[in-house]
Amino acid sequence: MNGLKIITNHVMYKIPYADLRGQYNESKLYIDKAISEVIESHQYIHGKFTQELENELKKYTGAEDCACVGSGSIALQCALKAGNILPGDEVITVSHTFVSTVEAIVNVGAIPVFVDIDEYYQIDVNKIENKITNKTKAILFVDLYGQTPNIDALKIISSKNNLLLIEDAAQSFGSEYKGKKVGSVVGITTFSFNPTKNLGAMGDAGAVVGPKDIIAKIKMYRDHGRGEKYAYDEIGYNARIDNLQAQIVQAKLRYIDNWNKGRLKKAIRYNNKLKDYVKVPLINKDSLHTFYIYAIQTDRRDELKSYLNENGIGTNIHYKYPVHQTKAYEKYATNDLTISEEVCKKIISLPVYHTLSQSKQDYIIKKVIEFHK
Ligand SMILES: Cc1ncc(COP(=O)(O)O)c(C=O)c1O
Repeated sequence: MNGLKIITNHVMYKIPYADLRGQYNESKLYIDKAISEVIESHQYIHGKFTQELENELKKYTGAEDCACVGSGSIALQCALKAGNILPGDEVITVSHTFVSTVEAIVNVGAIPVFVDIDEYYQIDVNKIENKITNKTKAILFVDLYGQTPNIDALKIISSKNNLLLIEDAAQSFGSEYKGKKVGSVVGITTFSFNPTKNLGAMGDAGAVVGPKDIIAKIKMYRDHGRGEKYAYDEIGYNARIDNLQAQIVQAKLRYIDNWNKGRLKKAIRYNNKLKDYVKVPLINKDSLHTFYIYAIQTDRRDELKSYLNENGIGTNIHYKYPVHQTKAYEKYATNDLTISEEVCKKIISLPVYHTLSQSKQDYIIKKVIEFHK
């Protein structure tokens, strides 16, 4: 009965936080066909299926070149390595992100230098310059929740200080900055296609887009640093995308703009209805937000989470701890990160998928308001 239960006079929905089934139902014809083509070909890695997706991603983003890899995490590591970030180099980044951003920096031997976030949950561009030292080599920023920071300011800072600029766009596939698609704005951009992302595979997958020389290196790294067969020119990884995932991502690419628009519409509706009760996300006019995550802030976050759960509504927390307050990364907690720390105590993410019906969204809105009254 469409997740709807009527208990005496109370309507109770069961609304999961994410709905991957809805996306599959819409794209099933293309996905099933793509999967059977790969199976029939017996070509599970390398070759035309990977290249097809790379060409489509170049076309979609407007990037010069593209290398598909095994995940968004390894995409970041490949990008840093191709950008010649070496052990001991400092990389400026944020702590309010998924751990992969920081993990990639540490995994190439570099040192993450954290900068606090602004009111849009993005790197605070005004706090970067006084963190630059003679060891700083790059700024790795994140399009958190699906929205870009002030990229013009980041470009000025990076060119003035001769720093590499890398964009972690794991959460913002299809987003735009000043009318240009993410992937064509900054030198090097990485994407994740993990199943929950704007454009999700049915397993792990990712990509790096950028200039031809960088992408050529990444194509080598992803395949053990191979030049020709069994001749290793560099130390690399096994970071190839598998062709089933490549074809699934390609099959879903045709839907991405509609799905992104659907989430933006839902987010704007939430903003309008909830703004008097909780702190709703700010939308930067320079960025086309794709709302991978719709996060609100409230002082009674844990109680709200339990209340929504009791009422059948799935929620999530992105993220419960800033990276610098976790055991593995606490040694990098050298800067003032007050806002990142505060936000993690108050943030809660509501369901925002494009298939969420209006009546279910109304129910969520009603429950959030009811809780705050
Ligand atoms: C901001 C950010 N960076 C990197 C990643 C890593 O992507 P993946 O899960 O594909 O390794 C994710 C997602 O998990 C992410 O949200």
